[in-house]
Amino acid sequence: VKILIFGAGGILGQSLSSHFHATKTPFIGLTHATLDATQEAKLERAFDEHRPDVVINAAGMTAVDDCELQRDTAFAVNARAPEKMAKICNKRKIKFVHVSTDYVFDGHKTVPYVEDEPMSPISAYAESKAEGEKLVRQADPAALIVRVAWSFRAGGKSFLCKLRELVIKQKQIRVVQDRVGNCTYCPDLATAVDGMIQRDLFGRVIHFTNEGDLSLYDFAISLRETAERLGLKPQCQEIIPISVDILNLPAHRPYYSALDKSRYRQLTGNSIRHWRETLPDFLQS
Ligand SMILES: NC(=O)c1ccc[n+]([C@@H]2O[C@H](COP(=O)([O-])OP(=O)(O)OC[C@H]3O[C@@H](n4cnc5c(N)ncnc54)[C@H](OP(=O)(O)O)[C@@H]3O)[C@@H](O)[C@H]2O)c1
Repeated sequence: VKILIFGAGGILGQSLSSHFHATKTPFIGLTHATLDATQEAKLERAFDEHRPDVVINAAGMTAVDDCELQRDTAFAVNARAPEKMAKICNKRKIKFVHVSTDYVFDGHKTVPYVEDEPMSPISAYAESKAEGEKLVRQADPAALIVRVAWSFRAGGKSFLCKLRELVIKQKQIRVVQDRVGNCTYCPDLATAVDGMIQRDLFGRVIHFTNEGDLSLYDFAISLRETAERLGLKPQCQEIIPISVDILNLPAHRPYYSALDKSRYRQLTGNSIRHWRETLPDFLQS
């Protein structure tokens, strides 16, 4: 099986590449610099050149606030590019995995969202991702759509990735406490995606994040505790909880967006690590 990864330079793309390298699975990783997924002719040529059996789309415009100001680009990257990939995969009988987000939900619930709940996006990013899911499903009913949330790994640019450095180096940090969701350690996600491919779980939407609800504040507190326990001498003395409202961010975010993972657990028979268990790996990698 030969795998082609779009968005290989992103945090998930890097973890997928490390995973397939470690498992000696033949794969090609195309970064944004190598291939702009919105350029349809180049996309088609990539399929011709690499002739994959499985395609994983880890490319996306993930800067949520930028998407408000650059709606056209957000829809081109997050909706129309995956649609084109799905069309080619459907035509050529290639298995397609597309990655989506908890932000397709509005966050008005207080219990975890299951896969079949109607999408209710509240930002340009979320609308573009929800549209991407719909277009992918129409173009390729056999596609596997994996929804994840608050992804992180060492060296990435998401806020959770940056917290590692902030907790180690900065004396005081302010972190949002009143939004609750799940987080996803990218190496665990890469292993899970490979497992779903091997079990042939195509044609579905499946949620995967690490176990346990949390706020970013919870994450920062646990990260500092873990760093202390590991002897990493974190410099951060004060972690101040704040409300997301005072940040006045351009894009709305769901206040509660935990994802129910029963479907993943039932279909794979696998348990999922609690997010706190991932922190030593995150800090030491
Ligand atoms: N990060 C999160 O917290 C999070 C949460 C939920 C869902 N997701 C979803 O997870 C998937 C993977 O994202 P990630 O977490 O790995 O975030 P990421 O680190 O931002 O990775 C996304 C990658 O896509 C690339 N990209 C952007 N526009 C592209 C284009 N036109 N053509 C090709 N590549 C392009 C980016 O390159 P540049 O950096 O050069 O733009 C980046 O390398 C995305 O579908 C995202 O929506 C992410």
